[in-house]
Amino acid sequence: MKLDDVKKIAVIGSGAMGNGIAQVCAMAGLKAVMVDIKQEFLDKGMATVNKSLDFLVNKGKLTTEKKAEVMGNLSTSLSIAESVKDAQVIIEAVPEIMDLKKKVCAEISAAAPADALIASNTSTMSISEIATAGKNPERILGMHFFNPAPAMKGVEVIYAKQTSDANVDLLCELTKKIGKVPIKVLKDAPGFIVNRIGAPNQALISAILDEGTIKTDAVDTIMKAMAGMPMGPFELADYVGIDVFYHTLKYYSETLSPEFKPGKKLQSMLDSGKLGMKTGQGIYAWEGGKAKIDASEQSKDIGPMEFLAIQINEAVRVYKEKIAASAADIDLGMVHCMRAFAGPFALGAGMEPKQLADTLEKLHQKFGLKIFKPEPEIVDGSFKNMK
Ligand code: 3HC
Repeated sequence: MKLDDVKKIAVIGSGAMGNGIAQVCAMAGLKAVMVDIKQEFLDKGMATVNKSLDFLVNKGKLTTEKKAEVMGNLSTSLSIAESVKDAQVIIEAVPEIMDLKKKVCAEISAAAPADALIASNTSTMSISEIATAGKNPERILGMHFFNPAPAMKGVEVIYAKQTSDANVDLLCELTKKIGKVPIKVLKDAPGFIVNRIGAPNQALISAILDEGTIKTDAVDTIMKAMAGMPMGPFELADYVGIDVFYHTLKYYSETLSPEFKPGKKLQSMLDSGKLGMKTGQGIYAWEGGKAKIDASEQSKDIGPMEFLAIQINEAVRVYKEKIAASAADIDLGMVHCMRAFAGPFALGAGMEPKQLADTLEKLHQKFGLKIFKPEPEIVDGSFKNMK
C-alpha cells in the first residue's frame, strides 16, 4: 500500500484520544469513522470534535466552510467489522486494558483488508503482545498521540517485534500528511520514549503527594514560570486523569521497577473518584477546563532543577536501551509531544554534570527511591557525547 491509497481511517474508541485523532484525520481530508460500543459515547465524541472545531473557527484558524467539510469527513458506527472492512488504516484507542486491546485487535484483523495497518494508541503497553491476537502481525504497530491530539504535534510511531520497516515508514508518511511530526520508536518498551522519560517524574509526583508538606500549587507555579511548561506537573496529572496516571505507574511498577508503585494519596483519589479535570476534582478543583491553582508562591523545595535532572537521567537510560534512534530524536519527541521548549539532551548540554548528579543523589536520599540515582554517564558528564 502507498500513502495515496490511504483514504479512510477507522478510529476504535471515541473517548478523549479517539475523538481527537478522528478530528486530526478528518482535518487532513481523510474520511474518518469513529467506532464505540454505545451511541451516547459516539454522540459525546462528535460533540467534543464540534466544540474543538468551533474553538479553531473563533480563533480564525479555520473557516466555517472548512469546518463543514471536516464534519462531512466524519462518521460514527457501532460496528468494528462494518467500519474497518474498507479502511486502509485502523487506529485503536480503547481503554488501557490488555485483554480488551487484544480482543479489539483480533476483531479488527478478522474484518479489515489483509494489508490494512492496525495501529494501537496505547500510552505504555506492549504492542508486540497486543499483536499476538491479530492476523498478519507485520502490519500491527503503535501510533501514540498526545493529549489533546489536535494541539500536540508529536506522534510516536512504534515498532512491535513483528512490524515491517515498510509499514513503519508508511505510517510515518501518514503522520506527516495529517500535520504531525513522527518520532520513530525502535523498541517496544514500556512508555516508549516520551512517557518513559516522564515515568520517574510521575514517581516523584506520587512521592510528593504522600510526603504531604510540599505545596503542589507552589511547585506548579515555579514550573510554569521558570521552566516554560504550559502546565505544571500536578496540573498535567489532573488534566490527563488521575486514573490514567495511576494505571500508568502501576504498569511501570510491573514492568520497569517496583519503585513505580502508585502511592497512598493517588490510591485514595482513585478510590474516591477524584480523577482530575474530568470529574471536577483531583489534586486541584477544576472549573471550565482550568485548575484552581494558588499562584501566589513559588516552591523552594522542588522546582525545575529536580524535574529536569530526573528527565535527563531517564533520557540517558532510554538512549542506552536503544529505544530511540538518536539523542536528537529523544529531544524532538519531548519538544513536539510535550510542548517542552527544548529536549533533555539540549538542556543538559549547558549544565554542570556535578550539579545534576548532586540533585539526583539528594532526591534519592530524600525519597528513598533508587530510580533517582544518577547514571554513570551523568556523573562523568559523558552523556553530553550521546548523539
Ligand atoms: N484543536 C487544535 N488546536 C488546538 C486545540 C484544538 N482543539 N486546542 C488548543 N489548540 C492549540 C491552539 O490553537 C494553540 O496553538 P498555537 O500556539 O499555535 O496558537 C495551542 O494549542 C495553545 O492553545 P491555547 O492558547 O488556546 O490554550 P492553552 O495555552 O491553555 O493550551 C493546552 C492548552 C494545549 C492543553 C496546553 O495547556 C498544553 O500544551 N498543555 C500540556 C499538554 C501536554 O503536555 N500533553 C501531553 C500529556 S501526556 C500524554 O498525552 C500521554 C498520553 O499517553 C496519556
